[in-house]
Amino acid sequence: MSIKVKGFLKDVGGASRVTALRKASIENASASPDPKDPIRELADKLHPSGMEFIVESVRDASPTSKIFRFRSADGHIPPFQAGQYVNFRLRIGGSELTRPYTISSAPFEARGEEGFFEVTIRRNRPYLVPDWFFENAKPGVRIKGNMPFGTFYWEPLRDSKNVVAIAGGSGITPFLSMAREIAFGEMRDVSLTILYGSVRSDDIVLKEELDRAERASENVRVIHFLSGDPDWRGEKGFVTRELIEKYSGDDPTYMFCGPLAMFRLVRGIMDCMGVTCRRFRRDVISQPSDPTALDGWPEGNEKKSYYITVTRGIHEDVIKASGAEPVAVALERAAIPVDTHCRGGECGFCRSRLISGTVFIPSFGDGRRLMDKEMGWFHACSAYPTSDLRIKIPIL
Ligand code: FES
Repeated sequence: MSIKVKGFLKDVGGASRVTALRKASIENASASPDPKDPIRELADKLHPSGMEFIVESVRDASPTSKIFRFRSADGHIPPFQAGQYVNFRLRIGGSELTRPYTISSAPFEARGEEGFFEVTIRRNRPYLVPDWFFENAKPGVRIKGNMPFGTFYWEPLRDSKNVVAIAGGSGITPFLSMAREIAFGEMRDVSLTILYGSVRSDDIVLKEELDRAERASENVRVIHFLSGDPDWRGEKGFVTRELIEKYSGDDPTYMFCGPLAMFRLVRGIMDCMGVTCRRFRRDVISQPSDPTALDGWPEGNEKKSYYITVTRGIHEDVIKASGAEPVAVALERAAIPVDTHCRGGECGFCRSRLISGTVFIPSFGDGRRLMDKEMGWFHACSAYPTSDLRIKIPIL
């Protein structure tokens, strides 16, 4: 939408005409309320409150990962940006869990009657939710959820048109979405170089899909570097400053998505290169499987267990929690519903009140506002108990 500026006096005069029109339409309006609410209708289309998705197909993305394609049960998929995620609501055992998965297909593929979206899930070791998807999410199965969420996407007012993406393992998914949107959709004037770290050439997640996008557009380039494949003819080893600088080009925006150890490495390289915060964007990193690797981890806490007294309205429960797990996981284990989206401490959906006790919050997973920190609020997805706790959570 463009706003035409006509000049100070004309604009002020225009404002008084609008006021007069508004008064006239209020005077002539019917006394009974208008059932139409176009703003609400638009908001419902953009952010539907509860959705149901149907698995349409499942295919391999590598020996350890699969691509799940979904359609919306009511035929409408809200518009999203390449890099955003869907939040699935699952019932596993007696617990209701929510899990975020980045959408690996492109925004343009979700439009129209045949619109769909895809997520890519990796299972390279036993893990509750990936196991559930691999064993249960067959074509025709319905799953509840919401979308879209997340702020990890290319923003023209802030980001350079030269994007250098650095990915590790299943952290490739937001960049495949971008690559597909550039190659076949509407981000055609953006150039994307993906530096993608894997271990072996025979287990590169989404390799065929990446090859296809690269072949279709000269604005998409994928550089694989492998850490555990001596026969690989391309770049070898872990991510380095030399590797990043070799493929960076002019004034890039760097975007990172990958495991914690790789994030630490890349963050250090960005600091050495003098890259500003504005030019380095990272995806929210879900809590690591080994919390003892977190900076500042309280030694020995992983071996301890605590009691958490949980208040929800008039309900009060006392649950047992491991010192190795975030509070949200302890709540889910006890079948107490907790609203989580990013599970990385950023979005605030799991915001809860700490009445008494202490928690450990890793610095990279602390997205709380300053006032929340001072007033004793914490994000249950990124806080580990370090004593018995008394907490208050919202009723769902
Ligand atoms: S789920 Fe996003 S902050 Fe906890």
